[in-house]
Amino acid sequence: MTAAEPSPARWAGASDDAAADFARLGPLLWDPVGRATVAAVDLRPGQRVLDACCGDGASAVPAAHAVGSPGHVDAVDLSPVMVGLLRRRAGDLPQLTGTAADVTTWAGEGYDAVLCVLGAFSLPDMDAGTAHLVRRPRPGGLVSVTSWRPGAMVAPGMALARAVARERGEPVPGDPPRGRLQELGAPDALAGWFAGRGAAGVEVTTVPHTLPATDDALWLLVLGSAFRGMLAGLDDDAVGRVRADYLGQLAGGPPVDATTLVAVGSRAG
Ligand SMILES: C[S@@+](CC[C@H](N)C(=O)[O-])C[C@H]1O[C@@H](n2cnc3c(N)ncnc32)[C@H](O)[C@@H]1O
Repeated sequence: MTAAEPSPARWAGASDDAAADFARLGPLLWDPVGRATVAAVDLRPGQRVLDACCGDGASAVPAAHAVGSPGHVDAVDLSPVMVGLLRRRAGDLPQLTGTAADVTTWAGEGYDAVLCVLGAFSLPDMDAGTAHLVRRPRPGGLVSVTSWRPGAMVAPGMALARAVARERGEPVPGDPPRGRLQELGAPDALAGWFAGRGAAGVEVTTVPHTLPATDDALWLLVLGSAFRGMLAGLDDDAVGRVRADYLGQLAGGPPVDATTLVAVGSRAG
């Protein structure tokens, strides 16, 4: 993971604490992004949907509401802890099935729509993994990936990286790293990359979103996202100093940019 790219984290082995913080962050971040993706894909009652890398259900739950009881949503995540949270959250939705599995080998197909929200960049080989997802819908069915827009999440990622570096006595990073996420994030580049994985007629929607720069929201963003991994190995006192440094850089400043891009295409017939 690079400092400014929160999504590639592996949540597969997420602790209960990390998953609980992920869920607490949901209303501020994951849930609005998930709802926006479901709106962009325009699901209809009765459809069969695969939600790949579903987490605790930010898009799977609204997808299940959109397809209704004649429809069905397969929600798949590598992390059994996440799937446990999803099942508790979706207990009253019989049309939603949560399964702990690797989506890169998920054999289900023939779906009307496949979603992957902030998950493609978590896959060990995002090109091959996304191409596999593009083959899951029926011919003509829809497939969607959601990712951060370039610049989104950079400010908190860099502030945390600087605070952690100071705490560990390591060189303090200057510029944000340019990872694959930043390179592909621009709408045209994302559309071209998705088309290269086999998606036809790709259109990209920009979904603006921000988080308030309050102490609570900023720190929850660290604990409930892949940024948490940067704290590994630090004891409680060290984490307290990192928190104070990080909040000192950001609290009371501009809102955190959490804008996403939703790319929607279809499986060629
Ligand atoms: C940043 S979270 C996004 C979760 C959810 N889509 C959301 O927007 O709230 C990425 C998720 O991808 C899952 N994931 C990563 N690699 C996976 C794989 N190979 N198969 C299934 N899930 C995977 C992680 O366990 C994690 O829950």
